[in-house]
Order: sequence, then structure tokens, then C-alpha cells
Amino acid sequence: MTAALVQADARRMPFAEGTFGSVSCFLGLQDIEIGFGEEGVRDAVAEAVRVLSPGGMLVLLDEFPLKRFDALLDKLPVTVIDRRERALDVRWGRQVAERAIGLYAQGWVAQARVADQVAQEQTRIEAHSRMVAEMERQLDTQGYYVPFGPVRMVVAQKVG
Ligand SMILES: C[S@@+](CC[C@H](N)C(=O)[O-])C[C@H]1O[C@@H](n2cnc3c(N)ncnc32)[C@H](O)[C@@H]1O
Repeated sequence: MTAALVQADARRMPFAEGTFGSVSCFLGLQDIEIGFGEEGVRDAVAEAVRVLSPGGMLVLLDEFPLKRFDALLDKLPVTVIDRRERALDVRWGRQVAERAIGLYAQGWVAQARVADQVAQEQTRIEAHSRMVAEMERQLDTQGYYVPFGPVRMVVAQKVG
């Protein structure tokens, strides 16, 4: 058995309808949201269902609330068969958290796909200050920083 690696936009995949028996997207939707907003997320989920064969399984995992997954899948030909939630077992102190946040803010800029350099720096500063505020809140209230989560997973089966 061979595997092919294909680089493409999840909102418009170069695959025919019903190509795959399973489709999974792990921590992808939140990055699609940064670059393409709610419409991009909706398009990617609809596209994932399009390329799924009837009876095939869709697995979505992200930080979105479970209700948001339900809303995303609501009008699509799938039945949700499982939902799970899990907190990340990571506890960072200030030094590691500050370093990580510096890198996350750079990653945010890459995902935001802003062309202009001044706007890129503005985007980085805004993302960084939001993340610092959240880090300070966590350090104050619980004494450590958890960078993500909890994550939620939804498993849905394509009808047909
Ligand atoms: C947080 S990473 C998760 C990657 C991987 N699933 C993992 O668990 O390590 C999100 C990925 O989504 C990619 N991404 C963002 N927008 C995308 C799009 N429209 N189509 C396909 N991938 C996209 C980003 O480039 C990034 O590699």
C-alpha cells in the first residue's frame, strides 16, 4: 500500500466526491478560522464531507465548543456518533509560557495571511498581547499556564 502526500487548500480539495472512507482534521479548523474566518471553517467542513464516501467517518478535533461543531455539521449529510472532550495535561511556568507565546504570535501572523509588513507586525502585536493577557490571567488564578484546550473531538458518519 502506498500513500500520497497532497498539499492543497482544505476549502477546495482536489479530490472527487466520495473518495475517502475516513477524513480527519486535527487542530486545522482553528487555523483556517484565523486565515479565512467562519466562512472558511464552514467551507472546509462541507468539503471534508463532500470527499467522504457514504458510510465514511469524519473526525474533527479542535478547541471549538461542542455546540459549534454541532452547528457546523447541522445542515450536512452526517450523523454525529461520538463527542469527547479532553484537557491538555501541560503546566508551564512564566519562562516557558513567554517563549511559547512569542512563537505562537509569529505563527498567528503566518496563518492570518496578511501581505503588508506593517499590518503583519500590527497583527503580531495584537495576537501577542491577547495571549499575554490570557497567560497573566492563568498565572494569577492557577499558578501555571496551559497553552491550549480543552480540545473537543466529534466523530460523524456520512449518511447514504
Ligand atoms: C495547528 S496546525 C495542526 C497540524 C496537524 N494537524 C497537527 O495536529 O499537528 C494547523 C495547520 O492547518 C494548516 N492550514 C491553515 N489553513 C489551511 C487551509 N485552508 N487548508 C489546509 N491547511 C490549512 C496550517 O498551515 C497548519 O499547518
